[in-house]
Amino acid sequence: MSTTQLPPFSTKALAAPALFFPQYDNPPRYDFDQGMPDPSTYPLEALQACADQVIKTQGQAACGYFGLAGRSEMIYGYAGLRDSIASWVGKRDKLSLDRKNIMLMNGSAAGLSMIANALVGPGDGAIVESTTFPYMASFLESTGATVFRAAVDSEGLVVEDAERCLREMKGQGLVPKLIYTIPTFHVPTGVLMPLARRQQLLDLARCWNVYVVEDNCYNELWYDQPTPPTLLSLEPGGRVIQSDSFSKMLAPGLRTGWVVASPEVASMIGRMRPDLGVSQFTSHVVNAWMANGRLDEHLNRVRPLYRRKRDIAADALRRHCGAFVKFHVPQGGIFFWLELAPGIDGQKVRETLLREGVACRPGERFAGATAENGYLRMSFLQVDEDEIERGVALLGQAFAAAST
Ligand SMILES: Cc1ncc(COP(=O)(O)O)c(C=O)c1O
Repeated sequence: MSTTQLPPFSTKALAAPALFFPQYDNPPRYDFDQGMPDPSTYPLEALQACADQVIKTQGQAACGYFGLAGRSEMIYGYAGLRDSIASWVGKRDKLSLDRKNIMLMNGSAAGLSMIANALVGPGDGAIVESTTFPYMASFLESTGATVFRAAVDSEGLVVEDAERCLREMKGQGLVPKLIYTIPTFHVPTGVLMPLARRQQLLDLARCWNVYVVEDNCYNELWYDQPTPPTLLSLEPGGRVIQSDSFSKMLAPGLRTGWVVASPEVASMIGRMRPDLGVSQFTSHVVNAWMANGRLDEHLNRVRPLYRRKRDIAADALRRHCGAFVKFHVPQGGIFFWLELAPGIDGQKVRETLLREGVACRPGERFAGATAENGYLRMSFLQVDEDEIERGVALLGQAFAAAST
């Protein structure tokens, strides 16, 4: 390629946060960084059998832009999978849903981006949690809306602080529009919002007439007891938009997520689709896989394995890192949120971890501009069960070397 001077990039691209990739030359030996399921649980043979079946029985429809349900599938996605998801979510959330309530997405991140674009813009105010899934904070910011951060405590979003943000928005002449929350196994802290807090949050949303975007992608990964009712199930009238995904409960490379919304809200979100739809083929395969209760069976199989990994990681953290970090044991999800003791040089910890091939996500990735580097998010599912302890021991050594 020649190195001729090219025109500048757009102001929007230049203002967007740089993509974050840890600087590992080779894959890290202990990858506590990415939030993924345990790769050994991917049901490869079953997916292959489903792909064969789809090619044999629905090959032409599955390879088109859309199938028998028509062009609307380019906006909403394959109707068969939407029917299956509507029935599965409807049963769990005790709601009567159908395909008009479900829009398939290229992963839930794509859905969150479309939701942000459909609901807010310049002059609007949106709330995210003080530490949050950073992509959604950027999606909201890139619409021109003003984003406020509300505190999170051991029960999730602090509703009084969200109310403070709403008042501030009003004071600044902004239109309060939405609250984005991860109530179930919050990212990055792993905390679970109990029922009473959920109700309090919905009361606030009703009172201020704002949407609530419920990011539900960790809901099924509970290890101690089933999760409280979803926000959607508590407020089914259209105010709550639920974002979900197969990424954490099945396999992220399928890039298959979805949004549950009222048909009116769903159609506005659909207007924001930036491409020609979600893969019909993958959606057919996932739908064939989901048949006959297979998703619940899969979840019942992975939960004990994940619970065991969580317990091994918690035990190793106590033994090797107890003097250097504070953490709580999450009741579900994929992450430990480690608060470094004062006097530990976060930068030095990172340099040592990089050298030792241990990957862990820096805490400030989840916070706004005001964040310090006193936290790490440790994902515990990807590393093999019998390797977790060794990786955590290296973490402990990195903390010790960086302590003053
Ligand atoms: C809270 C949260 N929401 C959404 C996503 C996006 O996942 P996907 O696009 O793979 O569904 C992630 C992925 O890490 C996440 O942690």
